[in-house]
Amino acid sequence: MKQCIRSPSRLRGTVVVPGDKSISHRAAILNAIALGPARVENFLVGEDTRATLDCLQALGVGWSLEEAGGRGPTLSIHGPGRVGLRESEDVLDARNSGTTVRLLAGVLAAHPFLSVLTGDSSLRSRPMGRVVGPLREMGAQVWGRGGDAYPPLAIRGGALRGIHYRMPVASAQVKSALLLAGLFARGGTAVEEPAPTRDHTERMLRAMGARVSGEAGLVCIEPLEGELVPLDLRVPGDISAAAFWMVAAALHPDAELHLPGVGVNPTRAGIIDVLRTMGADLDVTEEREQGGEPVADITVRSSQLAPVEVSGDLVPRLIDEIPVLAVAAALTPGRSVVRDAAELRVKESDRIVTTCRELRRLGARVEELPDGLAIDGVQFLRGARCQSHGDHRLAMALGVAGLLARGETVVEGAGAAEVSYPGFWHDLGWLASSGQVKGVARGGDRT
Ligand code: S3P
Repeated sequence: MKQCIRSPSRLRGTVVVPGDKSISHRAAILNAIALGPARVENFLVGEDTRATLDCLQALGVGWSLEEAGGRGPTLSIHGPGRVGLRESEDVLDARNSGTTVRLLAGVLAAHPFLSVLTGDSSLRSRPMGRVVGPLREMGAQVWGRGGDAYPPLAIRGGALRGIHYRMPVASAQVKSALLLAGLFARGGTAVEEPAPTRDHTERMLRAMGARVSGEAGLVCIEPLEGELVPLDLRVPGDISAAAFWMVAAALHPDAELHLPGVGVNPTRAGIIDVLRTMGADLDVTEEREQGGEPVADITVRSSQLAPVEVSGDLVPRLIDEIPVLAVAAALTPGRSVVRDAAELRVKESDRIVTTCRELRRLGARVEELPDGLAIDGVQFLRGARCQSHGDHRLAMALGVAGLLARGETVVEGAGAAEVSYPGFWHDLGWLASSGQVKGVARGGDRT
C-alpha cells in the first residue's frame, strides 16, 4: 500500500488516538494468567496486539473483541489462572511484535510444556539473547536460532528460581519478561535497569495483587501466593501515536490539534519534555488517572522551535518517538543531536539507517552516528518518494514529513502503520482534507 500526501494550508482538529500498544499487550497477557473474567476498554486492535491475542488463544485462553458503543474496542478475556495455560498445538507467531515474543517468553519459561515462538523476517532478526540469558539463569530451558540469539525460540518451561539481574541494556520488554517469570519462581526476583524504562507491567501487576516493590532503577517481585486478580481497565490513548500529531502541529505554520485522553506516564512522556524544551506551544490539561496510569488532554499549536540534544536517561522515555522527532529536528534551524540510542538499530528496522536514508530523500540534512543522529535543520522539506522499510513508526513519521513538506510525498509500504495505529492514514487524510490527500483511507473511527 502506498500513500500520497500534500501539506494542507491549515491543520486543525481533534484526534482520538488508539489505545496504548504497550498497555494493551500487558492487559491481555496479565489477564491471561489471572483467574477469571476481565474487560479491557479501548484495547488497541493493531497487528501487534492481534498477534498477542492469537498466541494466547493458541495457549487455551478465551477472549472476544467487540466495538462497545463509542468506548473503543473492548476485549473480554477469561484468565484460566496461574496453572491454566496449555501447550499450543502449533508454533506461536508473534509476527512483527517484540513485546509479544519477549513477554510471552517470560511467562512460558515457567509453564511445563514446549512452546516455540517465532515471527516475521524483521522479528527473526531482533536480539533475543537478552531474554534467553537471564531466563536460563532462572533455570528455564530456552534455545534460539543463531546461538540462542534470534527467534524462533524454543522453550520448555519448568521450575524457576528468583535471581538478581543487572540488565546490560535499558529494556522494558526484558524487565517485564523477568518480572513475569519471577511471579512463578521460588524466591524473589530483582531487576536492575541502567536507566528507568516504561513501568506499565509493574503498575498493572500491583493492581492485580502481585507483590512488586522497588524504586527507580531497581524492581523486585515476590512469587505469587495465590492467583492474580483479573483487572478491568480502560487503556489510555497511546502517547507514541499522539507524538505524530504533536510534531505535525508544532511544525505546521497554521495548526492547532487537540489530543484527548493520552497516557502521560512519566516513563513514556519524554516527547512532551523534549518538544517543550524545543519551545513547542504544548498544553497538558485535565490530568487524571485511568487504569492505574496518568492520562491528560494535550493541545499543540504552531511553534517556533529551537534545536535540542537528547541523550542519557531521556532516551528510553521517548525511544519509539525518535523517527518523528527527527522530522521535527529536520525542520528546526540549528543542529539537533540524539545520542545513547544505539537500541534504535534493533527495532522493527535499523531506525538510525532507515530514518537517515528516508529523510534525506526529502532534502533533510541527517547524519548517522553510531548511537544516534545529528540533524541540521533546513528551511523546508521537498516532497519525494520514500519508503517505510516495513517499519510502522517510520511509515507514520514519513506521513508527518509529508504533511510539512512542499509538493507531494509518496510513502511506500504505508500499510505498516497497521502494526500500532490502524486508521493512521484515515486520520491523516481527514486532518489534511483542507489540502489534498490521495490514497486509500483505511481504519476505523474511534470517537
Ligand atoms: C516496549 C518497550 C520498548 C519499545 C517497544 C515497546 C514495551 O522496547 O521500543 O516499542 O511494550 O515494553 P524495549 O523494551 O526493548 O526497549
